[in-house]
Amino acid sequence: MRTRESADEKIEVVFTADQIAAAIDRMAREIARDYAQRSLLIVGILKGAMFVVSDLARALAGVQNGPVCTLDFMAVSSYGNQTRSSGEVRLLKDASESIEGRDVLIVEDIVDNGLTLEYIHGLLASRKPRSLRTAVLLDKPYRRLVDVPLDYVGLIVPDAFVVGYGLDYQERYRTLPFIANLILPDSGEPAH
Ligand code: IMP
Ligand code: MG
Repeated sequence: MRTRESADEKIEVVFTADQIAAAIDRMAREIARDYAQRSLLIVGILKGAMFVVSDLARALAGVQNGPVCTLDFMAVSSYGNQTRSSGEVRLLKDASESIEGRDVLIVEDIVDNGLTLEYIHGLLASRKPRSLRTAVLLDKPYRRLVDVPLDYVGLIVPDAFVVGYGLDYQERYRTLPFIANLILPDSGEPAH
């Protein structure tokens, strides 16, 4: 399916809303099994992971004998231009809860070169949680620059810049209910 979103940008669906929902449900079952009847603090990374957290947390609530979940959020941004992750991560909003001694699950939208998640994982690990794991909806494994541990992965993305379901291009497209490849007119795809 091809959809023309604006005069000079095109999007091409990569994962439908149903495919995303199935991936989230599978992740929820895996997480629920691993943390059965424990307390789990979910730390979502804004803004990209807002829909992943929202759907994953509610899917977890629906699994019998799953964990009792609480939610917290952090916000980060990369320095550099808007489409290329520079690796210099800036903390815009810290988590508001203490994580010491707790079981913590970082929830992120996408892992590309891995530097963003490596930064967040390192920061939270230094605060001495009881356990620390990661859940990401989308993985681009072939673009990794650092080896960051992924415990729960939803879907492997083709090597393309994707938008929708929380992911943006210059703050646009986040609200699409599906995930799509963004194709720009002249350069083909955004550098990422
Ligand atoms: P990393 O540091 O390269 O792993 O990049 C992770 C961050 O870059 C994600 O949290 C996203 O905000 C952004 N990002 C990476 N790939 C894409 C993409 O294809 N579309 C939109 N944002 C992306
Ligand atoms: Mg992000």
